[in-house]
Amino acid sequence: MTHPIIVTSALLYANGPLHFGHLAGAYLPADVYVRYLRMKREDVLFICGSDEYGVAITLSADMAGRSFQEHVDYFHHLNQKLFLKMDISFDHYSRTTWSGHAKTVQEFFLELYEKGFIEEKTENHLYSPEDQRFLADRYVVGICPHCGYEQARGDECQKCGASYEATDLKNPRSKMSDAPLILKPSKHWYYRFDLFQQRLLEWLEKKDWKPSVVNLSKQYIRELHARSITRDLDWGIPVPLPEAAGKVLYVWFDAPIGYISATKEWAELQHDPDLWKKYWLNPQAELIHFIGKDNIPFHTIFFPATLMGLDTAYKTVDQVPANEFFLLEGKQFSKSEGWYVDLSTFLETFTADQIRYYLVANAPENADSDFSWREFQARCNNELLAKFGNFVHRVLVFAQQRYQGKIPPITLHDEGDMQFMENMHRCIDAIDGAYAHFSLRKAAQIVMELAQIGNVYFDMKKPWVLAKDLSNKHLLDTTVGLCLECVKTLAFISAPMIPSSAQKIWAMLGFETNLCDTSWEEAKKNLPVHQQMTSPKPLFVKIEDSVIQVELDKLYHQNK
Ligand code: MF3
Ligand code: ZN
Repeated sequence: MTHPIIVTSALLYANGPLHFGHLAGAYLPADVYVRYLRMKREDVLFICGSDEYGVAITLSADMAGRSFQEHVDYFHHLNQKLFLKMDISFDHYSRTTWSGHAKTVQEFFLELYEKGFIEEKTENHLYSPEDQRFLADRYVVGICPHCGYEQARGDECQKCGASYEATDLKNPRSKMSDAPLILKPSKHWYYRFDLFQQRLLEWLEKKDWKPSVVNLSKQYIRELHARSITRDLDWGIPVPLPEAAGKVLYVWFDAPIGYISATKEWAELQHDPDLWKKYWLNPQAELIHFIGKDNIPFHTIFFPATLMGLDTAYKTVDQVPANEFFLLEGKQFSKSEGWYVDLSTFLETFTADQIRYYLVANAPENADSDFSWREFQARCNNELLAKFGNFVHRVLVFAQQRYQGKIPPITLHDEGDMQFMENMHRCIDAIDGAYAHFSLRKAAQIVMELAQIGNVYFDMKKPWVLAKDLSNKHLLDTTVGLCLECVKTLAFISAPMIPSSAQKIWAMLGFETNLCDTSWEEAKKNLPVHQQMTSPKPLFVKIEDSVIQVELDKLYHQNK
């Protein structure tokens, strides 16, 4: 019996375009997993959306000269389109500025407040008399209290690396206007995370997460204290208390609740407004957060502790496939420094499956990894095209020519045939385990391993020689039949990672259905004998050196 599974990917800040770094960390691994679960006929719901509040948004909107709403509208729609182009198959892509989100967040806040888990405190904060507003750390520069560096940032010094409170800076000024800042008392609301220390520890004991995730979480639990969940900012969800006029909730308080409110929105769109409860209020359900490593404590400590304070038993996280960082030619992606690859432009030259395959084969699972143009070219040409695409194509073309595209019966089995069949089944089982355990690199290796096995079998059996002698008909039928079985197996096992190419193969084999709607069980069933296949077309094109050179020149030129 299957249980409901909620898969989430970190809500993406609507302040810039989606890039490979994001995809490799939180979105592609989740999509591959979800596609696999759907083929396994699991009841899975894939939820994501735009994270639209907070200083990360206001700063970037200010710099772009747009209003906050215009800014998030722009990037919400852009990113939604980019996810579609990348075949990321969310069941719902929501946004935190939709009204149902604020409602849910304010309800949570009020319940926690009434139960005494939220306390107020008045402390000094940096205020700009000129702008008549309080400034968040990231809006502040000043003199480093440790080394005296004059342009030190509000939270840490980029010269000596010291971290401190913005109120410790000497001569604090506004980053935007250079106006001098003063200290002024401001009232804020703090969530008593410290009250959940014991419960979190016991809860964490039962998790079988990666050691790095468990250790980091334990460290946070040890140092738990009340943390402010409100801000003086003119963009965010209003704090629902009469004495808090003008204050908003901290973005890391509202955003994770977005997973729940997005599911409510999805349920409304299904015309079954209570359907979200089957996932979030069901102890049998499973919750899996795909995130990058910088998001770990928010998902393993702060969000669960928020939910633990509520009377209603919401699902807390069961699995946290947290990935390391994915860099670009060894350095972090940075749009402002020109160190990026524009995804829209990229997709004019290359396909979603090419980059999906590369990111899967090179996934930042246990260490940082990076995008390198040369390696991208090598993987696409030597693996996707020369091993996988080539095997599929030569088999389909041969079957087209010899059998007018009708699938031949498999009649005889010699030792080599049996082994080939066993290898196919072994690869299906192996990749099943790899997908189930979020091992993307392993999955990519298995796909290429099977393509290689297919190529070796084809070369060993030499069907083009068999075809010269009519008395070999059964041998030839079996050889071609088994090669087609292998082509079908490759389509199945690669479908979660390169869905569009796998679907093309499926259609060329003569199926009119969607492979992604087909049960994984079918992978081991033989193809229907005599099924009419369609005329084969190559799956991939070779990436020429000159094309890569153009991209490298662009990157290094941009970065001048
Ligand atoms: N927008 C955040 C980031 O990109 C992630 C938010 S995840 C959520 O780092 F849980 F808060 F939704
Ligand atoms: Zn310093």
